[in-house]
Amino acid sequence: MIEKSFVMMKPDAVSRRLIGKIMSRFEEKGLQLIAVKLLQVDEELASQHYGEHKDKPFFSGLVDYITSSPSLAMVIKGDDCISVIRKIVGATNPKEADLGTIRGDFAMDTGRNIIHASDSPSSAEREINLFFNSNEIFDYEISDQGWIYE
Ligand SMILES: Nc1ncnc2c1ncn2[C@@H]1O[C@H](COP(=O)(O)OP(=O)(O)OP(=O)(O)O)[C@@H](O)[C@H]1O
Ligand SMILES: [Mg+2]
Repeated sequence: MIEKSFVMMKPDAVSRRLIGKIMSRFEEKGLQLIAVKLLQVDEELASQHYGEHKDKPFFSGLVDYITSSPSLAMVIKGDDCISVIRKIVGATNPKEADLGTIRGDFAMDTGRNIIHASDSPSSAEREINLFFNSNEIFDYEISDQGWIYE
């Protein structure tokens, strides 16, 4: 089923100049970028985005991290892309993440794990609406669709 996922390169990914390398992984897989925005997440947006973790001991450190400098927010589209992207991103703890995943290859610490990806269709919908207006999300054909999908 064609899905949309919300994916965000966190401040460390942007500041470490990893945007191009990370973006390539999604593009080369055959996924389609349909929205993108560089933004500084403020405390309110961070608290809404990570609301499920508000009672966890790491919450205030997580908000400090996410609000520390610009992030790159995206909407990515593709067949079953929510679970495919979670696999490409890798485990929450980069030391445990498989090599070949983004976290496994580029990060060392759970508190600096460089990227976020939606974990279910309902969180994807909620997160996309939190970060993007509908006129910032694009519908367009990719030319090699017939080589990506049977
Ligand atoms: N024990 C921890 N110490 C520090 N930071 C943590 C810890 N656990 C989670 N975090 C931070 O909170 C984020 C959200 O945690 P969650 O359990 O939702 O993991 P995730 O779904 O893999 O990550 P994300 O939601 O960012 O895609 C993690 O990506 C990480 O940045
Ligand atoms: Mg999560």
